[in-house]
Amino acid sequence: MSNSENRRIVLASRPIGAPTPNNFRIETQPIPIPSQGQMLLRTICLSLDPYMRGRMSDTPSYAPPVAIGDVMVGSTVSQIQISHHRDFAVGELLLSQSGWQDYAISDGKGVFHLGPHIEHPSYALGVLGMPGFTAYMGLLDIGKPVAGETVVVAAATGAVGSVVGQIAKLKGCRAIGIAGGDVKCRSAVEDLGFDACIDHRDPALKILLAEACPKGIDVYFESVGGVVFDAVHPLLNTRSRIPLCGLISHYNDCEAPTGKDRTFEVMGTFLKRRVRLQGFIIFEDYGSHFGEFQKQMSEWLSGGTIKYREDMVEGLERAPDAFIGLLQGKNFGKLVVQVGVAIK
Ligand SMILES: NC(=O)c1ccc[n+]([C@@H]2O[C@H](COP(=O)([O-])OP(=O)(O)OC[C@H]3O[C@@H](n4cnc5c(N)ncnc54)[C@H](OP(=O)(O)O)[C@@H]3O)[C@@H](O)[C@H]2O)c1
Repeated sequence: MSNSENRRIVLASRPIGAPTPNNFRIETQPIPIPSQGQMLLRTICLSLDPYMRGRMSDTPSYAPPVAIGDVMVGSTVSQIQISHHRDFAVGELLLSQSGWQDYAISDGKGVFHLGPHIEHPSYALGVLGMPGFTAYMGLLDIGKPVAGETVVVAAATGAVGSVVGQIAKLKGCRAIGIAGGDVKCRSAVEDLGFDACIDHRDPALKILLAEACPKGIDVYFESVGGVVFDAVHPLLNTRSRIPLCGLISHYNDCEAPTGKDRTFEVMGTFLKRRVRLQGFIIFEDYGSHFGEFQKQMSEWLSGGTIKYREDMVEGLERAPDAFIGLLQGKNFGKLVVQVGVAIK
């Protein structure tokens, strides 16, 4: 890259089913020049998150889609390279929404100082940011786990699930993970402290999950849907709770499912067992709790109570492939792209 260019990854076309590299295009443009009251931000780290699949489609959702030809949206840790804004100084690190590009202009709205002492700036995109906050509020406010209960966590080694399981253990619960493959399942138990973790690709998933939950399931933290939900739902206890966080196994669906309509069966279980299910969109529903979360999570992290794993990918140009891999379970931990290096 020349010092005078901004690489940007734009949405070239809308995916039909799973995204492919052809849905993205990398462009270069001159680095934008900030006006009075603005600053030039250089991207250091870019967060890749499942919600971006929704933004690639134009079906109605809680947020508008990315327009064809626009830069892909995304949270970043960015460094101020030029500042014509009185509240921001050159060199400071910010949490920004700069998207999939090297540089962005900001007027200071919607950006947050990371402070000079942050040891791992990229953590602001994961355990100390949106995914960690999602785990914390979803489990504690909707799941309401009680010591001794069984909490089952889908996508258990990912950015959200890994934190859900660890908080469930802190609350004295039995934590059972569901993840893709042996390596992730072993890590869930050995590194994160889950009591057991079941591979969702194992044909015996239903049997293995029932064996791991001999007293049934009191809280199911739903991020996946599909075969994982099918295995969970018969095990739900009376008055169990489901924080409905995501349904990643369906994000690439482009046709309605075939086969028997199971709405009645699932709703019947919810009715008979008085299951409470609540969807949530983290910042829309819980934005005012972010400070409280950050304080608690910083304490847990610095004391080693919560463990955190990042899957760091080098280079902006690798973002499309890494994102496609996220929807196939190829990431192991919070997926972050290292775009640039912060200057001390
Ligand atoms: N409601 C909210 O405000 C909110 C906020 C943040 C995230 N979310 C949701 O939370 C969930 C997890 O997000 P995250 O950022 O923590 O991602 P992540 O878990 O770090 O990565 C996604 C993981 O999902 C699993 N997965 C992907 N496709 C799958 C499939 N077809 N079947 C089963 N598992 C599949 C894979 O794990 P395995 O290899 O283990 O299968 C993959 O590694 C997503 O559903 C996301 O949309 C919701």
